[in-house]
Amino acid sequence: MKIIVKKDYDSMSKEAAGIVRKEIEKKKDIVLGLATGSTPIGMYKELIRMHKEEGLDFSHVVSFNLDEYIGIDYDNPNSYHYYMKENLFDHINILKENTFIPDGNSDDLEESCRIYDKLIEEKGGIDLQILGIGANGHIGFNEPAEELNYGTSVVDLDDRTIKDNARFFNSIDEVPKKAITMGIGTIMKAKKIILMANGKNKAEAISKLIKGKKITTKLPATLLLLHPDVTVIVDEEAYSLGK
Ligand code: PGA
Repeated sequence: MKIIVKKDYDSMSKEAAGIVRKEIEKKKDIVLGLATGSTPIGMYKELIRMHKEEGLDFSHVVSFNLDEYIGIDYDNPNSYHYYMKENLFDHINILKENTFIPDGNSDDLEESCRIYDKLIEEKGGIDLQILGIGANGHIGFNEPAEELNYGTSVVDLDDRTIKDNARFFNSIDEVPKKAITMGIGTIMKAKKIILMANGKNKAEAISKLIKGKKITTKLPATLLLLHPDVTVIVDEEAYSLGK
């Protein structure tokens, strides 16, 4: 696991965007795994800048998002469908038909999970997966538990996640309690992974991850220690509990 410590959020975001850019330039029809939340917003801004000012081309790029809430309208600003349009897709030349996000409003959620994994496989698998990390160590919405799901699944959100995400909603009662998320197997099959974290809130989870001593489903990000190509990019605050 490679660890890159950057001074602040801005330089963390630029570092991650630089890696994404290099990978797109190496393989123009790259399959990206994308994350939502506050962490990747700066990276998306930088990718938009690279597209607008330097011609970074997304016209052959395919993307699969990690997760989506269940039972939230896609025109609700808190849905990840809305987030992706707002923070990336509407500002670059990616083709709408090449962007995939789990369908949290499907009548048959189990079937839509199955179709999602099949589609990822049909597109050749994820080349580069972007991840944030929850303060509780979750990746995607794979919350700490005795057992984790292998494939894309319907999950209950952890109380801590509901609390952490309440900042985006009018009240904590509005935060959905369920989501669809890529499973740990789906994530681990990605050829290359970048995990970003910033802020003190993430320091404890990051410290446990980079110590690299234990792999536990109670801190799902530690499963990444088993992956051969993971780069963790953190700011100084997230790194503050160090090794
Ligand atoms: P955040 O969420 O980027 O909003 O902190 C990260 C995550 O929960 O994976």
